[in-house]
Amino acid sequence: MATPIDVVIMAAGKGTRMKSARPKVLHRLGGRALLAHVIGCAARLSARQAVVITGHGAIEVEAACGEFTPAGGGFGLKFARQEPQLGTGHAVQQALPLLVDDGVTLVLSGDVPLTQADTLAALLAACGGERLALLTLELPDPTGYGRIERAPDGTVRAIVEHKDASDAQRSIREIYSGIMAVPTRLLRGWLARLDNRNAQNEFYLTDIVKFAVADGLPVVAHTITDAPQVAGVNSPAQLAELERVYQRRQADALMEQGVRLADPARFDLRGTLDCAQDVEIDVNCVFEGQVQLGAGVRIGAHCVIANATIAAGAVIHPFTHIDGEKLGVTVGEGALIGPFARLRPGAQLGAEVHIGNFVEVKNSTLAAGAKANHLAYLGDATVGERVNYGAGSITANYDGANKHRTVIEADVHVGSNCVLVAPVTIGAGGTVGGGSTITKSTAPGALSVARGKQISIAHWSRPAKLPKG
Ligand code: UD1
Ligand code: MG
Repeated sequence: MATPIDVVIMAAGKGTRMKSARPKVLHRLGGRALLAHVIGCAARLSARQAVVITGHGAIEVEAACGEFTPAGGGFGLKFARQEPQLGTGHAVQQALPLLVDDGVTLVLSGDVPLTQADTLAALLAACGGERLALLTLELPDPTGYGRIERAPDGTVRAIVEHKDASDAQRSIREIYSGIMAVPTRLLRGWLARLDNRNAQNEFYLTDIVKFAVADGLPVVAHTITDAPQVAGVNSPAQLAELERVYQRRQADALMEQGVRLADPARFDLRGTLDCAQDVEIDVNCVFEGQVQLGAGVRIGAHCVIANATIAAGAVIHPFTHIDGEKLGVTVGEGALIGPFARLRPGAQLGAEVHIGNFVEVKNSTLAAGAKANHLAYLGDATVGERVNYGAGSITANYDGANKHRTVIEADVHVGSNCVLVAPVTIGAGGTVGGGSTITKSTAPGALSVARGKQISIAHWSRPAKLPKG
């Protein structure tokens, strides 16, 4: 049996440099809170629990965590409050009552979002249930970090915090990442021995390295070279920098699968994107929530697409906004959408549907081959096959209190600038004359016209300007 893993996530710090009312760990990277990334990573390690240390903004952070907990059993999320914040060692002390001595404690920070599960798995392997294992890396500029001090034979002797370090120690480029794995029964003893006699008058978690060395217990370092994996977020500039790293990694993974991105530096995915073969995505598109793109789908420049399923061969022209929210949006095979189209929750478009510029579709079903090409609104409508819905026409679906449905049966032609006042049904094959306001259902095959009759007065003279004076 592998040693059980208990994760401790430090998230009590203030995040002063974010200059934000929002707790730092709730700032978003790739559309998810920093802390959600860390919890997600812990869940992938099959940890038995994660204890989040909260302090600043504790109530807000704890409330938000409910949504971060990954589905599936076996993973408990718990909280320990740290008030006031007296250092990283003091932070982990707060979790001790929840930790069980048969396990290994993996210490993470809530503001370090890009650590990969396989890196942590390698650290846990180095720990092996019995050693103190530190995740380290070499930095060209190690300023501010704790330095890894090694004996001449290479074994780790101590972590020296920057503010406590001598000039010689400051020249060490190997730093402690802030991530360690430690057998819990040993951690408990070492934490009891911490003091705050140092430059910052804090209880340093990093001091446990000295105790391990003094006790003759092995300390090992797992060293990586990929710095973004252990980079923390302290300022908006660092958040933006890590966002780009994260987006570039997602873009590379998609291109690896064959997705053709016009420019991986101008691509944003804040959720999940599943792509079949031969998908092309032009510049400056944003994908949110869960999006699926079928084979050969092309997405034009500057589209924002959230929670949608787009079937094979569909083309989304530039500047289209699709937001499925909870109900989702589906776009059928070979459909043409945009430019400048807006698909809202519950838009379900069949094969070969055409939605053109400045057309809004909400909670409506359009059967195969239906077209609404210009300046139109379809809300709460059921639209049959091959319907042609004219420029400027709208469904008046809302009477000020309730929403009602409009049914437009197959092969209907609705002229330009019509108002279909719901509830109303336009019978199959019918035609609605341009400019009509339709309040009563129409029979199949009928031409319906509901507008003021045209009057023409022959040889009519326009008024002329009166002479001045
Ligand atoms: C810490 C390490 C340092 C390492 C660096 C890596 C210590 C003493 N030093 O330094 O060796 O190189 O991380 O980034 O551990 N926190 C709390 N409660 C507290 C203090 C901190 O929850 O009382 C949380 C912070 O919110 C943050 C994390 O712990 O998420 C690290 O704290 P921080 O103050 O950033 O530690 P550093 O000084 O950067
Ligand atoms: Mg820090």
